[in-house]
Amino acid sequence: MAERIALVTGGIGGIGSAICVELAAKGFKVVAGYYPAEKDDAEAWQEKQRAEGNAFEIASGDVSSFESSSDMVKDIEARVGPIDVLINCAGITRDKTFRKMEPDQWKAVIATNLDSLFNVTRQVVDGMTERGWGRIVNISSVNGQRGQFGQTNYSAAKAGAHGFTMALAQEVARKGVTVNTVSPGYIATEMTKAMAEEVREQIIAQVPMSRMGEPDEVAYLVGVLCDDRAAYITGANYELNGGLFMSF
Ligand code: CAA
Repeated sequence: MAERIALVTGGIGGIGSAICVELAAKGFKVVAGYYPAEKDDAEAWQEKQRAEGNAFEIASGDVSSFESSSDMVKDIEARVGPIDVLINCAGITRDKTFRKMEPDQWKAVIATNLDSLFNVTRQVVDGMTERGWGRIVNISSVNGQRGQFGQTNYSAAKAGAHGFTMALAQEVARKGVTVNTVSPGYIATEMTKAMAEEVREQIIAQVPMSRMGEPDEVAYLVGVLCDDRAAYITGANYELNGGLFMSF
């Protein structure tokens, strides 16, 4: 069987990088998507990964734009091949209490974290259904499940991600394509480092495990969902949050 190809959007970020490493270890050919303005960072990341034995491809694309996402996927198809696995991992925060939130802060988060699911998935879903195999994993958040003070934009987008998962999962279920959501809690990355220290400590104090999660703990779960044997799992949400929020 030809090597399967995985695109990880936000692939050079904290969780994205760990997912790239995990999927490569599982035998996928991995392409890390990056935001065009981060070209230098992406090239440096690629070089560092190569030095560690990970021959990842990188591809530039703004996931908040349909046209840019289309160009990114065409570029990957031409250089690497058709995409069998899509991990929608690109995401941003613009935290502000709702009464102070500006339209730009709302729109940026909805565009990057939610519109992106349409913009990127739309480019790859036909190929997956035609070939009869595909895995789509949307990285959401505990804050899409329980809300978070200062994150009306982010919580709305992340809750929306799971609605998207459940609907698309039904549409492609008979075509060998699964669609699932992974909802991490607070993970030790640049995104959580950017929070005020006292806010971060206050949140960790609410986590039954009394610690943040590690990116490779998220990556492990994503890897499982991309496995051939995960074929019967679809439309599901998997949470990993140290016990911060429990539901069934
Ligand atoms: N709970 C209760 N009250 C809070 C609060 C909280 N978490 N945060 C702030 N407040 C209070 C403040 O004390 C202040 O009270 P007063 O008016 O009485 O002084 C009031 O709310 C307004 O606070 P600010 O003026 O500081 O509000 P702000 O809009 O400038 O910013 C905030 C607030 C920085 C967004 C802050 O609420 C915050 O950091 N919240 C946490 C956001 C968060 O968890 N982000 C996660 C980032 S990582 C991520 O998103 C990954 C993932 O998936 C988990």
